[in-house]
Amino acid sequence: MSELSAGFLKNIKRVKKMTDSQEEVGAMTPLQLYERLNAQGEQVRCLKTAKAEKAEIDVAVQLLLKLKTDYKHLTGQDYKAGCPPPENVVNQDNGAATDGIDEEDNVDPWNVSTSNAKGVDYDKLIVRFGSSKIETELVDRIEKVTGQKPHRFLRRGIFFSHRDMHQVLDAYEKNKSFYLYTGRGPSSEAMHVGHLIPFIFTKWLQDVFDIPLVIQLTDDEKYLWKDLAIEECHRFAVENAKDIIACGFDVNKTFIFSDFDYMGSSPEFYRNVVKIQKHVTYNQVKGIFGFTDSDCIGKISFPAIQAAPSFSNSFPQIFGGRKDVQCLIPCAIDQDPYFRMTRDVAPRIGYPKPALLHSSFFPALQGAQTKMSASDANSSIFLTDTPKQIKNKINKHAFSGGKDTIEEHRKFGGNPDVDVSFMYLTFFLDDDEQLEKIKQDYSSGALLTGELKKILIETLQPMIAQHQERRKQVTEETVKQFMTPRPLNFKL
Ligand code: TRP
Repeated sequence: MSELSAGFLKNIKRVKKMTDSQEEVGAMTPLQLYERLNAQGEQVRCLKTAKAEKAEIDVAVQLLLKLKTDYKHLTGQDYKAGCPPPENVVNQDNGAATDGIDEEDNVDPWNVSTSNAKGVDYDKLIVRFGSSKIETELVDRIEKVTGQKPHRFLRRGIFFSHRDMHQVLDAYEKNKSFYLYTGRGPSSEAMHVGHLIPFIFTKWLQDVFDIPLVIQLTDDEKYLWKDLAIEECHRFAVENAKDIIACGFDVNKTFIFSDFDYMGSSPEFYRNVVKIQKHVTYNQVKGIFGFTDSDCIGKISFPAIQAAPSFSNSFPQIFGGRKDVQCLIPCAIDQDPYFRMTRDVAPRIGYPKPALLHSSFFPALQGAQTKMSASDANSSIFLTDTPKQIKNKINKHAFSGGKDTIEEHRKFGGNPDVDVSFMYLTFFLDDDEQLEKIKQDYSSGALLTGELKKILIETLQPMIAQHQERRKQVTEETVKQFMTPRPLNFKL
């Protein structure tokens, strides 16, 4: 069974009940019922606007309420317009197996939230998405194959899940190389430290494996999803490219592209987009992404554009028309739906499935219930922040796992598992021993919250200042070089 149809089948949970209108809700998946509810809500609104007979409105409202009850029964959650049910959701009260779903965690390409202060339960997400955990054994193997100490993101489980990484290493050991693909949706000029995580890691992968890399800037995606003009999205793509380049990518091995620019200039890329479009149905993308009948058709076909760079013949200038070069995608786990779809399509159009490495989210300053957001200035540390702004934001907003008074803190100690400053240090402080000592001292109460925050401030200030310095060196000419389709320097 394919990864995709496994998800679909799990989705089908029957409720043996008929609604007043004799519709068989029992045969509906949570998503179908959700859409039925959307439609019914729309009908009630139309009747009211049209000032229909009271009796007629009452019947429609009754049915709406009935459907809401059925929805609650089926999913265990209240129906909320604009919030499609998560994949595989089933109600525990129904006696159904929950197969490890945490009803409080909400993870898709557009939303990340949980009610747990420690953050999303990533082990459950692995079960729900059907990926594999990055075990110590895999980390050791990467060390053996590359001869390099594993990056702290691997040592500390920040990249925690994968698909087919063992196969990639098997082939690499037999001198069959691969290429990297990652991307960014340029929704604003302002990038924050969380946005750097996949790029810092991708740069490390490029260095230790010595392989080519393509970076997709989905300015088209942001135009479709946000209230922005095409020109703005394209400008953000170019601005973001400067921050990405400042991470240190090798211009001889890296191609960065804006969808608006590259799609129109590459027949091979567009052919792959259309091949993918032909092999995914509307029903499938609805199931994967929760699209509804009122989403524009641009959104519905967009996933094919994010899928296309996973296939090497989308870049003939790099791979000379070869369609069999293996792709590895480092990304945050919320992007996985795109690549579940891609992996389902790949064998049907004669291409290898891309492999994946998934990262956890970079928490907001306010706590790990959600990820950093570029639209909330106080939730994020921006790459443009001054040393003073960094200091103030951390002191004022970083959620603390410390106790309320110094006396209590000394006596009971702090909780590093929910402390945002400590979490940030796990991302950015490279010294394992120092990090462990901080953890011990904070837990015992020897280290106070103010002191912990000071360590974080002194770690981030130079890091961001150096980034700003490197970004200043990136000229328009450099950007143009990275963004020009051209051969790259590598051997496969
Ligand atoms: N959709 C991603 C975003 O909004 C951008 C993206 C495109 C991407 N291709 C990718 C991210 C590949 C990771 C890997 O940020």
